Amino acid sequence: DGLTAFRNEPLADFTVAELRKAFPEAIAQVRGEAGRVLPLVIGGKSVETDDRIPSVNPADPGEVLANVCQAGTVEVDAAIDAAEAAFPAWRDASPKERADIILKAAAIARRDIVALSATQVLEVGKQWDQAYNDVGEAIDFLEYYAREALRLGAPKRMGREPGEKNHLFYEAKGVTAVIAPWNFPLAISVGMTSAAIVAGNTVVYKPSSLSSLTGYGMAEIFKEAGLPDGVFNYCPGRGSVMGDHLVEHPKVSTIAFTGSMETGLRIQEKAARVQPGQAYCKKVIAEMGGKNAIIIDDDADLDEAILGVVYSAFGFQGQKCSACSRVIVVDSIYDKFVSRLTEACGSLRIGPSEDPENAMGPVVDPSQQKKVQEYLRIAHEEGQVLVERQTSGPGYYAPLVVVAGIRPEHRLAQEEVFGPILAVMKADSFDQALEWATSTRFALTGGVYSRSPKHLEKARREFRVGNLYLNRNCVGAMVGRQPFGGSKMSGVGSKSGGPDYLLQFMEPRVVTENT
Ligand code: NAD
Ligand code: ALA
Repeated sequence: DGLTAFRNEPLADFTVAELRKAFPEAIAQVRGEAGRVLPLVIGGKSVETDDRIPSVNPADPGEVLANVCQAGTVEVDAAIDAAEAAFPAWRDASPKERADIILKAAAIARRDIVALSATQVLEVGKQWDQAYNDVGEAIDFLEYYAREALRLGAPKRMGREPGEKNHLFYEAKGVTAVIAPWNFPLAISVGMTSAAIVAGNTVVYKPSSLSSLTGYGMAEIFKEAGLPDGVFNYCPGRGSVMGDHLVEHPKVSTIAFTGSMETGLRIQEKAARVQPGQAYCKKVIAEMGGKNAIIIDDDADLDEAILGVVYSAFGFQGQKCSACSRVIVVDSIYDKFVSRLTEACGSLRIGPSEDPENAMGPVVDPSQQKKVQEYLRIAHEEGQVLVERQTSGPGYYAPLVVVAGIRPEHRLAQEEVFGPILAVMKADSFDQALEWATSTRFALTGGVYSRSPKHLEKARREFRVGNLYLNRNCVGAMVGRQPFGGSKMSGVGSKSGGPDYLLQFMEPRVVTENT
């Protein structure tokens, strides 16, 4: 196919002066376009609706970045019809034709990386580096899945029985509903969408209401890349108005969802019920929440461990499914670790994410803010709050909290907060720490800081999560290197950015010919 081997996009490097200069310019440019009306895109045409949601800057909610038209059930039906009409030709295009367009999309995103990052800084409050790396991950997904489609595109001869020829090949399934979260607003949307499309499916994409401007960036990229009309349909809408309708629609064959456990379980339940006129058993891929722990063993390198825990717990305000929300510390090193942790948390600068000096910004909306304050109240009930840093200002700031004295039975040890609250648990031994680490219904990420080969080996075997990190932080999985995703209540489906992911969007077929 003439393609080079897959390589990850370089991470943000702000020692480069041009990049430091480009960010404020790009942020100003996003501001320059603020307030525009964003239409839906159905069958290649812009469609405006009267129901609109303003997309605002969480650091200054008076700043409206865009007014986003919302799809109702009528528009969802139209988008599914457009996707259905585009499907046969797209399915029958060669894997190379499809991969070429997806690779072109990667090149466009690479060209526009700073502009796409700036949108996220303003729309969801990502720090510069987090936003840049999100766009980098989106590019990685495009590059990786294009190569995967080519790898899987060739029929495979099965068996060598004389007198017969057997060929196994994969074919697209049909219309895919992609339902995305706001916290990795480009990467996760592009990941699910490009996998579906490059495999030959057509897509109706519903971004989160909190990141629809970023999601519109994907629509613009695919248009410029030359994707045929109807293959990708941009269809933002209120989950409460059109979510069930999209999921239950009889013409949808696959649903790729990333978001909360509650919504993921609801989607699985709705999708399991067969609707009149439905011809498919719907496939649901659901990536859901986490309650991730990092274990600090008695011989851990604390310089590394403090950095890793603070970054995993408070990067992007803790709003990552992969974030560390429990740190389980072995008794003999507890006092030393906790005193350094509280000191480090006291030194983080908090403020608008467009200022690169700030390590933590606002959470994404008032309901996230309220939720974090509620868990702070619970933290005061259940444990001893060691750090509580409230930030005032017009933005949706939530407190940075470290709470000690948390035991496995506490709510703070079991429920996903999805915000900057870190629970500290003191374990008698490494074995108890390991037992506690896996004592929740989630199984997404985890980490261990230890110098003991025996303990690391035990963690490898028994710390049963989708992505385990030994002696490093527990966020920022890289496409192709750390295929990402969990089990238990953290989700169903194969890992994104890994070799099994694309198969979920395809039907295997076998043709046998007597010769
Ligand atoms: P959410 O569940 O509130 O929303 C996700 C999407 O579902 C949004 O687009 C929303 O509008 C839509 N939705 C809401 N109700 C719906 C319905 N009835 N039918 C169909 N769609 C509906 O999640 P969120 O707040 O956007 O994201 C945060 C959550 O996502 C956290 O729990 C986090 O752990 C999880 N997450 C998981 C991963 C992962 O890979 N496992 C990655 C990122 C985020
Ligand atoms: N893939 C994201 C991470 O690993 C969620 O942090």
